[in-house]
Amino acid sequence: MMDDAKLANGSMIPSILGSGEGDPYPLYDALRESGGVYRDPQGTWLVAGHALVMQVLRDRDGIFLTQPLGDEFVCARGSFQRHSGGEHARLRDAMAPLFRRAPIESLRSSINREASSLIRMSAAAGEFELSAIALVLAVQTVCGLLGIARRDAATWLGACVSASSFLVEPVVTDAMCAELMPGLDRFMALVRNFVDDVERHGAPDHPIRPLLEFEAQGVLSRDELLDNLVVLFVAGFGTTARAMCGTVVLALQQRCIWEACVKDRGAVSKVVRELMRLDGVAHGVLRYPSRDIELGGQRIGRGDPMLLLLASANRDPHAFVHPETIDLTRSAADNLSFGAGAHACIGRALGMIGVEAVWHALLDTMPAAVLDFERLRRYQGGVVHGYADVWLRSS
Ligand code: HEM
Repeated sequence: MMDDAKLANGSMIPSILGSGEGDPYPLYDALRESGGVYRDPQGTWLVAGHALVMQVLRDRDGIFLTQPLGDEFVCARGSFQRHSGGEHARLRDAMAPLFRRAPIESLRSSINREASSLIRMSAAAGEFELSAIALVLAVQTVCGLLGIARRDAATWLGACVSASSFLVEPVVTDAMCAELMPGLDRFMALVRNFVDDVERHGAPDHPIRPLLEFEAQGVLSRDELLDNLVVLFVAGFGTTARAMCGTVVLALQQRCIWEACVKDRGAVSKVVRELMRLDGVAHGVLRYPSRDIELGGQRIGRGDPMLLLLASANRDPHAFVHPETIDLTRSAADNLSFGAGAHACIGRALGMIGVEAVWHALLDTMPAAVLDFERLRRYQGGVVHGYADVWLRSS
């Protein structure tokens, strides 16, 4: 129960949203056992139970907002992720052409090729660090989605650092804002030039043409178009890269899972999905109620920050029998690793293509892969969790 010193005496936020190397799952267990809704000393409500998290994510009455009340975002305020209700739907629908089945599927073969060539080259060197390769692949994947030239991928990656901090950090202080602004301005200029260039010289079937057409029809403004591209770029590559590594680490920790995929490639999709439930990338998402509410027996005030702990919900024994075991027969509908409801991940299919591409490339090139557990570290950056120093060798 709540006898853990961390629960009793101090804030749990650093363990969940900090930048350490700790394992937050024991905290999640304690939170769920204590009723599932807990007010952290820092003022944020932590929501840990599956049913409660689902209830908030699936809210149809527009009570739970993704943006703090009365707070104007400096970065990407026109993106759909920042809005709720009708505005969210308008902006998300405007981005939907990028995520239709046909354009996403058309990226699969190039992503597979890229993964295969990068892993083969790296494996030839004997030993390599998977996170670095995953990052390159994930950035290439998102560049493919948005029609950013391959040669510009590194420039975009280097330029998006400030925007990433604005989007990932749960709280951006005035001092942080002042420090990050010049970098954000430079990134916005890069995105603006990219859109201008596609408009003037881009091919008629460039992926962002439909978005420019929406702009011409008055469905969205140029600023909204730019803000949405910023969010799609930043939200897409970090999560995908972490999932590429995290799932491989888990499978090599429980070797029989890896061996099962060596024998049966058809199992890879299900295995990846189940491993992302067991230890997903996005451990939490923030919401702010637009009025006073009651949840799990607690009164939550209008505007109070609520951190919905997806990773905790994904280990809730009320939703998953023996949650710590890997079970490929579980229902996909309860798995919250890509969220749920109106804000569920728009890039899910693309992310899965990228993660599976890495798996197939590794299974092809190094079926007897060995992970260096001595060097492996857990990684935590804001709500994003995973692994760093993922050193692999062929056998
Ligand atoms: C394996 C990789 C990925 C994981 C684990 C992941 C996870 C998530 C989660 C948990 C959410 C829900 C956020 C919320 O409820 O507030 C989300 C939303 C979102 N994701 Fe992903 N994601 C991944 C890949 C991608 C990719 C590839 C893209 C785009 C290129 C993307 C773009 C977005 C956007 C824009 C949202 C906001 C959706 C909305 O507010 O309507 N994600 N993602």
